[in-house]
Amino acid sequence: MLSRQTAPSLRKFETPFYFYDINLLRQTLESITSVAKRYGFVIHYAVKANFDPRILSIIREYGLGADCASGNEVRCAIEAGFDPSGIMYAGVGKRDAELRYAIEQGIFAINCESLQEIQVVDSIAGALGKVQDIGLRVNPDIDPKTNKCIDTGQADSKFGISYEELVANLDVIKSLKNVRVAGIHLHIGSQIRELHVFEYLCVKVNSIVEHLGKLGLDFGFVDVGGGLGINYDVPENEPVPNFASVFSIIQSHLKVGGRPVHFEFGRAIVAQCGELITSVLFNKTTASGRRLVIVDASMTELIRPALYGAYHNIENITSTSEERKRYTIVGTACESTDVFDEGVTLPLTQRGDLLTIKSAGAYGMSMASRYNLHDLPSAVYSDEL
Ligand SMILES: Cc1ncc(COP(=O)(O)O)c(C=O)c1O
Repeated sequence: MLSRQTAPSLRKFETPFYFYDINLLRQTLESITSVAKRYGFVIHYAVKANFDPRILSIIREYGLGADCASGNEVRCAIEAGFDPSGIMYAGVGKRDAELRYAIEQGIFAINCESLQEIQVVDSIAGALGKVQDIGLRVNPDIDPKTNKCIDTGQADSKFGISYEELVANLDVIKSLKNVRVAGIHLHIGSQIRELHVFEYLCVKVNSIVEHLGKLGLDFGFVDVGGGLGINYDVPENEPVPNFASVFSIIQSHLKVGGRPVHFEFGRAIVAQCGELITSVLFNKTTASGRRLVIVDASMTELIRPALYGAYHNIENITSTSEERKRYTIVGTACESTDVFDEGVTLPLTQRGDLLTIKSAGAYGMSMASRYNLHDLPSAVYSDEL
């Protein structure tokens, strides 16, 4: 993570930009791979969290598979060197061309989220003369106790097939000749900090696996998704997420008869290694006395605060003032929701100061847009300073 000592060396780069701490990324990957190995868990990296080519190539070095959410993400993973045999492809809507591409590449599995999708995969695979392995993404109806904008596992969510619908159509699915049910898949949400939620997930998975077995469905892998949260409040206290805790919960509670267990983590792998560095453009005070700091980044570089009300810790890394003030940090986009945070206490903050918006390595750059024709932010890596 960035320290005040590093700040002067950042002055030569044009803001706003993403700064990536490569050592921290490697430490995180060492931690996740060593603990996963203990239990024989298979880890896929959720490419949607950050598809920066340098980040992807480092993640690939550690032997992770990839979890993709579009045909272009599958292509991006393959171009970054991920072996197709370790690529999952999930997503509530997949276009025919995307499915065809994924099937042609021979990826590990397409995680299907509706009966119709399974039938379309069957027909495209048939036309290509192939049999495609699929995972059945079941909606488990679990409250992941997270921000409702990133909750994907409750009954009314658009994600996954309801278990009732799956069971009602099991014979149809089993009768298809060009798909093979290779596994089941669940992903209940993101930024999960209450780890006991993973115990509920295991209980649900156990009963699904047992029941599907009784119904005569023979399948291999169990993919329990991603979702492990990180410490946005004080990132320095937890630069590497607690993979040991979540894996030990899954190991103790999941009873899936020796089937391979897969995970798809995004945020937990890349969030803490990335920070958005931005310069202060202007200060002004509103009629009601709100002290605004207008920075040169905006929701076009980091949309999470505007989109979900997500919190990111912000620090002024260049001010040496002893004076402290409360500020509202806003971006340059023509949207009133383009606010990074309200009521942040910072040292006296003035034009030209550099601020870091921390824990921005996941769903930061990958969600950047060119709204207002802003340029996309560049990346600076710690080992290139
Ligand atoms: C199907 C699926 N798997 C994995 C992930 C990664 O989640 P996270 O970044 O919380 O680990 C997501 C994120 O939305 C997802 O939709």
